[in-house]
Amino acid sequence: MNNKWYKRSGWLAGLSLCLSMVACNKSDQIIVDVSQEGAEVPSSLYGVFFEEITHSGDGGLYAEMVLNRGFEDGNLPSGTVYEDGYAVSKDLPCYSNDSINHFKVKWQDGKAMNGWEVVCAAGQPVYKVVDNQPLHPATPHALQLELGKSAGDVQVINNGYWGMALTKGSSYKLAFYLKADAASDEEVSVALIDENNQPAASQNFKITRDNQWHRYDGTLVSASTGNKYRLALTFKNKGTIYLDYVSLFPEETFMDRPNGMRKDVAEMLADLHPAFIRWPGGCIVEGLNMANRVKWKETIGDPVTRPGEYNLWGYRSTYGFGYHEFLQFCEDVHADGMFVCNAGMACLFRNGDFCDDKQVDDLIQEALDAIEYAIGDTDTYWGKKRAENGHPAPFPLKYVEIGNENIGSRYAANYKRFYAAIKEKYPQITPICALMFSPYLQEAGPIDIIDPHYYETADWFYRNGDLYDKLPADYPYKIYVGEYAATGRSSLYSSLAEAAYLTGVERNADKVQLVSYAPLLENADGHGRNHLIVLKNDSVYGRTNYHILKMFSDNRPDVNLKTQVLPAETQPIFQTQGILGIGTCNTVAEFKDFKVTRDGETVYATDWSDLSSAWTASQGEWSLDSGILKQSKVEGDSYLWLNGKELGDCTIELKAQKLEGREGFRIFFGSKGEEQYFMADIGSHTNESVIFGERNAAGNVSLFDYRNATSVNTYRWYDVRIEIKGNHWKCYLDNQLEYEYTYQPVIRHYAVSGYDKQTNEVVIKLVNGENTPWNTSINLSNMKSVQAEGTQITLSGVDPDDENSFANPEKVVPVETVLKGIKPSFEMVCRPNSFTILRIPCER
Ligand code: AHR
Repeated sequence: MNNKWYKRSGWLAGLSLCLSMVACNKSDQIIVDVSQEGAEVPSSLYGVFFEEITHSGDGGLYAEMVLNRGFEDGNLPSGTVYEDGYAVSKDLPCYSNDSINHFKVKWQDGKAMNGWEVVCAAGQPVYKVVDNQPLHPATPHALQLELGKSAGDVQVINNGYWGMALTKGSSYKLAFYLKADAASDEEVSVALIDENNQPAASQNFKITRDNQWHRYDGTLVSASTGNKYRLALTFKNKGTIYLDYVSLFPEETFMDRPNGMRKDVAEMLADLHPAFIRWPGGCIVEGLNMANRVKWKETIGDPVTRPGEYNLWGYRSTYGFGYHEFLQFCEDVHADGMFVCNAGMACLFRNGDFCDDKQVDDLIQEALDAIEYAIGDTDTYWGKKRAENGHPAPFPLKYVEIGNENIGSRYAANYKRFYAAIKEKYPQITPICALMFSPYLQEAGPIDIIDPHYYETADWFYRNGDLYDKLPADYPYKIYVGEYAATGRSSLYSSLAEAAYLTGVERNADKVQLVSYAPLLENADGHGRNHLIVLKNDSVYGRTNYHILKMFSDNRPDVNLKTQVLPAETQPIFQTQGILGIGTCNTVAEFKDFKVTRDGETVYATDWSDLSSAWTASQGEWSLDSGILKQSKVEGDSYLWLNGKELGDCTIELKAQKLEGREGFRIFFGSKGEEQYFMADIGSHTNESVIFGERNAAGNVSLFDYRNATSVNTYRWYDVRIEIKGNHWKCYLDNQLEYEYTYQPVIRHYAVSGYDKQTNEVVIKLVNGENTPWNTSINLSNMKSVQAEGTQITLSGVDPDDENSFANPEKVVPVETVLKGIKPSFEMVCRPNSFTILRIPCER
């Protein structure tokens, strides 16, 4: 627990004591039965997921300072051709439904010189990126400088990733390649220059002029500090010279690894003490088409030979932080490796194309080769390569995830084959199934672990602290929550919502055995989302949820203890009330026999003859034919509202049939219109489940405890029935109950506790997402003894919107204090907007 973030503060210690003594009239009770163990909390629980997104690797964790070092950025994404300003994938059927996605990406000219500029002291410089002088066949592009056609000195300048950051007195390792003939310049001068072109460091190199490629290495020591430096190579104006692979690294990298990682960023990750690291993605594993997927074999060996690939997050990756570096990082931070392989299908939200059976065999072999590279003996082909790359000992690879966010029967069939091949050759490896709570789980079996992802609003997370309590105890699969994040504006409020959810993960750690947040890293100068760690070229900080995750990870108990939170006041039960409607999402569907009843009495029924007077369409294309109502627009959402009937408790019945598209049909209730509604979402999540949903001020929210796994078939009429009673809703298809849900108020007080067997401490975690203090009494029962003093770690903010920033990176960080006055029953006041951990020495 000794850690730079856990500051001891006498002031806060005093305050917590004084708050503890406040007489609390209305105090919630937290009852911890120290003798009753719950789920064990495995050491595997808290890990990290790395994906090349928002410059998390290039321009982030990977320490390379030169952008587009090999002049390869102009390469189109693999598997695409250029058409009218777009990189266009081949029109191929999508694996999930055989539709054609026509996937393309905007593509502008000039990318080959991304990051570079060429200037001439007099007149225009003459240069271009060519591929006829390959330094390596995999990286054929180079910059051709026709120096003899220039009137003065020619400077080739790289701007780095939003500038280069230098520290006075620090050394930087330079490398570049030149090809020059006898008629060319004799010398090149390389300098790090500031915004006024003043050098912070420079070095001259004599050029070998034999028309062969030669590598030049140097060390530049900076005379100043700043983050807007650029790297400039200055030539005279003789002959033609080719330039390629210009690289600059800080001499000091994490663990001094060559081709290494930024020390400050890697240390932030290491400080999380991740139990595992997942690599390389995410959607980039799937690719925007099959050819564009990450191919691990292209990410190892001399970085000069790594072709890189345009990644579907909008820029080209060098894969300098490749498979070997990932495995090395796992070893360096004592984490297990989790490699993700492509399962024979591209991302279904992009091109979604897929492999035939023979190509799936090749992909299975590719995955087996990856395992061999990581753990095979050095007399195996890939084990030998690992040794040649500097690491004869095996790496700590433990898991292989088969695909990412895949769905459907094709995936199920492919998964089975990968699973069998991996298990047969490497029984020590745990395969992970990329299906979430899916109807295809049975078809895909055998399955050890599934991987549901959650990108939901903060309030969804506050509602779902008990998500896995509701999952049946005999649920057949272990769970890896590979990706979760509260969407919307990042703040302490959203971070505490994730903490609320994590209390449920930890309490159910027999079911959820691994969890990782996503996305992990964001370069703030690129475009970001709600990432855990934010960086620029010279600095890095953890958002509030970074610190919360670290608190969970550092204070993982060995086993849960039975814990009850008894609120002093109960919240009023929500009563559903509002207008009704029907609709679709990305689907063509038909509807008939719509009827609403209450207490057995018909309130409203229609054969659609009143369509124009009683209903209002707000989106979609609605038409009537022989008593059947059709919505024919396949893309987007559609809504049809029943005018003026504000209804509470009732039963809605109708028949519905899907004709075409990605999802199913929706029945709306308790609505104010398309801006605010509840719905039964039948065929939700690309037709993988029947669940309830909500649209509120924060956007669309899925309302589910765990996902049901029913999809709807096309050209089949379903009898749909929705029963609404107060805050409890049921959805039936063909008289079978598919899903029921109780709409809870948002709960912002959560507690979970466990026992640390090494230190003999009860560890209590308390989440207060309210902007007011949380008055509680902590009641410990059935222990031998409890000490009067323990440890309190508190992360709190003045305002729910508080968040760390470059200007104030430690605005909200955990503070460690002495917890005094512990008794079997004691008062505790959790600060507003806080996450608090109590470590209470206690004999059992
Ligand atoms: O975390 C960003 C993306 O979100 C991941 O690549 C993907 O798995 C998910 O959809």
